[in-house]
This record gives sequence, structure tokens and C-alpha cells, in this order.
Amino acid sequence: RRAPGRPRLGQVRLSSSEAAAQRAPGREEADSKVGTRKKTFPEVQAERLEQAQRTVLINCPAKISEKKFLKYLSHHGKINSHYFYESYGTYAVVEFSEKDSIASLQDVIRTPGIEEECAVPFKSRLFTLTLKNPSTQAADQAPVHCHKQSTILVNDLVQKLCSADSVSNQLYTLMDEYQLTEENIKLRFLACSLIQEIACAYFPECTVKPFGSSVNTFGKLGCDLDMFLDLDEIGRSPTRAKTGPFYMEYQMKRVPSQRIASQRILSVIGDCIDNFGPGCVGVQKILNARCPLVRFSHQPAGFQCDLTTNNRVAMRSSELLYIYGSLDSRVRALVFSVRCWARVHGITSTIPGPWITNFSLTMMALFFLQKRTPPIIPTLDQLKDLAEAEDKHIVEGHDCTFASNLNKIKPTENTETLDVLLSDFFEYFGNFSFNKNSINIRKGKEQNKPEPSPLYIQNPFEQALNISKNVNQSQLDRFVALARECAWILQQEDKGHSSLNNSQPWGLAALLLPSVASNCIKGKKRRKGPAASERIKSLLDSLKINNANSLVNNGGK
Ligand code: CTP
Ligand code: MG
Repeated sequence: RRAPGRPRLGQVRLSSSEAAAQRAPGREEADSKVGTRKKTFPEVQAERLEQAQRTVLINCPAKISEKKFLKYLSHHGKINSHYFYESYGTYAVVEFSEKDSIASLQDVIRTPGIEEECAVPFKSRLFTLTLKNPSTQAADQAPVHCHKQSTILVNDLVQKLCSADSVSNQLYTLMDEYQLTEENIKLRFLACSLIQEIACAYFPECTVKPFGSSVNTFGKLGCDLDMFLDLDEIGRSPTRAKTGPFYMEYQMKRVPSQRIASQRILSVIGDCIDNFGPGCVGVQKILNARCPLVRFSHQPAGFQCDLTTNNRVAMRSSELLYIYGSLDSRVRALVFSVRCWARVHGITSTIPGPWITNFSLTMMALFFLQKRTPPIIPTLDQLKDLAEAEDKHIVEGHDCTFASNLNKIKPTENTETLDVLLSDFFEYFGNFSFNKNSINIRKGKEQNKPEPSPLYIQNPFEQALNISKNVNQSQLDRFVALARECAWILQQEDKGHSSLNNSQPWGLAALLLPSVASNCIKGKKRRKGPAASERIKSLLDSLKINNANSLVNNGGK
């Protein structure tokens, strides 16, 4: 149980888990650095995309000799890494050290002999491996070890959080449970690479890259996979021939606008994914959205995918979040906890509607961290001032310039603990003048709202847009009421008013209980510590939490 009273300011003492989290986002410190320099976002992306092209996905029996499996595959070349996971069957992700190994492997793979149906002869890097003699080969075999691809249930999380020794460590524990694993990130890049193979049938020079929470360091296991079909390489002009009296250019079909071009391209690629993409199901073309997209489920990888094109601004906003998430370990820890809290209480949802989104919540947390004294993260304008010539990006007239070199950004001198930050986050937004002010991470200052949407969060790049335009007043009111309730709970604990009963959820764990929301609905204005009857009720509620949990865990986001 944590010591009473929270340290306000002063040197932050890190426990081992905090220290580990402090070092680098994700779990692989070595891979995120070049020597002593932290890698930039484009460097990490390029490396992972290349790695994905040397990787195959194999559906295999759960009971298989791992040793024999690897020996069989290594006839085609050296294997760098492999792992197994479950998604409608057992799958292996196998990364070869050379791309040529895949061609060698594909040379010996058969096309399926289907009797009643007919196979569409599109060859990809998604294979099925079966045993020649299942009865003898699998008889004494234990199932292979599978890596987890989803988060633990909320009630298990609550239990785990209760055994941490401070609220701060509760936040790091939650992040550790929820963040994408190295294996899951590899699978996301592989899924993009498999879709790229399909798109390459039309546009051989295209790339398909993940963006959004899969790569911005804020992704949770189970989050959707946002894919960007990048056709810019095709448009890149070669260095002009210096001699000769002529110019040559490609004849190309012309359409009235970029939007129409995107819709046509996505429509055709969507059809290809639907008709030829192995394992791709439920393809929906949502071409009239502000940003046209194709939505589908990649069953073997287990991801809900949103494919867009001409979405370079979103790619820049992913890089910006990557920078913020990599600057200080408290950023990601706070964002993961706030997102989890919001999902548990139905503030966010997997269904589109008037709800606050994870992206909006992240912006709110970043804004809050910019407003600390001293600030924990710089404003976007400050990052722009640090930009070098190669960082200059103007996308369709929008200035998306900011420093990409993490090493150039001075670390903060702010030493506040996450205990303080979590409580103050709720207090800050519980009392924010949403009716008057907008949130702007470019300036790090609240500004007058340019229009009367209940929640106004300025898009940092497309500055005339509100990223939370969809949010209605009642959803915002729910967020504010819950934030106040949670600030109150944490402040009571801080004053030592909480129960001494160790079995009762405390700190962050207490904020995840359904009773928090029901207290808000009753509109209670609490002035003193909870009565005994309330505590019993809260215990009973915590037993009922299972229902809410299954909802959250199936929801994905
Ligand atoms: N985006 C945006 N403006 C919005 C919504 C989204 O610029 N109003 C961009 C952001 O870069 C965001 C990305 O599109 O990261 C993907 O959107 P979405 O999937 O909704 O958010 P994620 O950040 O990926 O979070 P989640 O885990 O909920 O998928
Ligand atoms: Mg997403």
C-alpha cells in the first residue's frame, strides 16, 4: 500500500518499472536508437516496412514441433525471428533475413486443390501449413507458445493495479499491460505489407504504411489498424535530363479533384481486397466520408483496418504524437490511463457517434501537459522553431513543419509525479471553460472558440478544423461530471480519507469501478468521505464489474 500523501514536487524517484518505461517507448530500447541517438519516426517506419517485406504469415496446427517447423523453413534461408499467436487458428510470423528466401519458399508452395469451390489464383505471403500425418505428428506434441494479442480483462487489471505501490506505478502498470507489444507492431506492419502486395497490382511503386495509434506510441493491443496507401513515389519527378531539346511526361487520366482521384483509387483497391485478398472480409467502401476510406477486417492478423490515401497530414500528426510520446515517459502513461478510464465509463466507444475519441483525449492530455509549470512537453510552435531545413513540410497548403530529431528537444525540468498529474488532469478538465475556450496544442494556450461546438480541439495542422466536432453537449457533460468525481476521489485519498481496507480498489483502480459513473448519474455533490453504506455498495459494484469488462475487452479500442 502506498505511503500516505503524494509527493508534489521534488526529485522523482523511479521504481524499476518506471525507470524501464522512462528509457524508451515500446519495449525495445536497442532498436529505437542509433548509437546514442534516438531514431526518428521515418527511420523507424522505413526499417519496419523493410522488415515486413522479408516476413511471411503461416496458418499452422497448434500442435506442431517448433524445431522441425523452423528447420523446414530454414531450407530457404536464415530466419531472423519468429513467433506464434492465435486468431481464428494458430499463426506463425516468420521473418527471414533476406527477401530472396521468400521467393525460394514460394517456389515450392502448392496452390490449394479445392474440390467444390474455386481458388482465386492470387499468390501472397499468407500460407497454410498442414501435417502430412496428423495422427502421429501431433500425438505427443504440446501446443506452441502463443504471444498475447489482446489486453487483460478490466477486473484483472484492477486487481493488478491494487498491488502497485503508488498511483504513479499504477499508471505504468496499466501502460505495460495495454501498450502494443513488439510482436503486435510487427504484425501490423506485415498486414500493411500484405495489402501493399494487392495495391501493387495497379500501382507497382505504391507503399502501404500504418499510421495513427499503431505507430504513434499510444496504441493499445486490439486498436484498429489505420493504413495509408502512399502513391507519392509515383508522382515524384525524376531529375530532369539536362541535355536534349525535349521534355517527356506521362499521359494520365485527369479527374476534377484530388478527392475524386482518391475515391476512384480506393474504390478499385477496395474491390481487389474484397475479391482477391486472402483473409480479408467485411470490406466496406466509405467513400463519402471527409477522408474517404475502405474498411475491412484482416482475419488472419485479427485487425480491423481502415485504408485511406492522400492522407499525408494524418501521417504528420502520427509523427508529432510519436515525438510527444517519446519525450517523457509520463506522457504515454497518462494518456493510456485516461483512455482506459474513458473506455470503461463509455466516454469513448467503438461505434462512431457523438462520443469523444481517443485522438481527442490524447490532444487534451497533451494540452494539459503543455500547461504545467514548467511545461512537460513543448508546444507545436516551439517544435516548429527547432525544425531544420529537411523538416519543412507543407501539405496541401498546411504547415506541418516541426523538428523530427528527438535529440534536439531539451528534456523538461518538471519533476511532478503521475500521482499529481492524474489528479490534476481531472481537476483541470473538470473545471475547464469548454463553453468559451478551445484547446490548441500548437500554441499551448486556450483560445476563444471560433464556433459554438460543445468541445473545440483545434486540428494542429488543418487549423480551421475541429477534431472533436462530432461531440455533443451531453457527452461532454458526462466527461466533465466523471472528471470531477475522479478528482474528488483522488483528493480524498490524498487527504487520507480513503478506507484502510487493503482489498478495496484505490487510486487509479478505484477510478475504473462502475460505481464512479453511477455516483455521477445521481448528481451527487459530495463534501465528505463516503459513508459505510456507499463503500459496501462500491464493493458490490466491483463484483459486478465483469459485465463492463467483457464489453471493454471485446470493444478493442
Ligand atoms: N485523425 C485526424 N483527425 C481526426 C481523426 C483522426 O487527424 N478528427 C488522424 C490522427 O492522426 C489519428 C488517425 O487519423 O491518429 C487515426 O484516427 P483514429 O483511428 O480515429 O485514432 P487513433 O489515434 O488511431 O486512435 P485509436 O486507438 O482509437 O484508433
Ligand atoms: Mg486508429
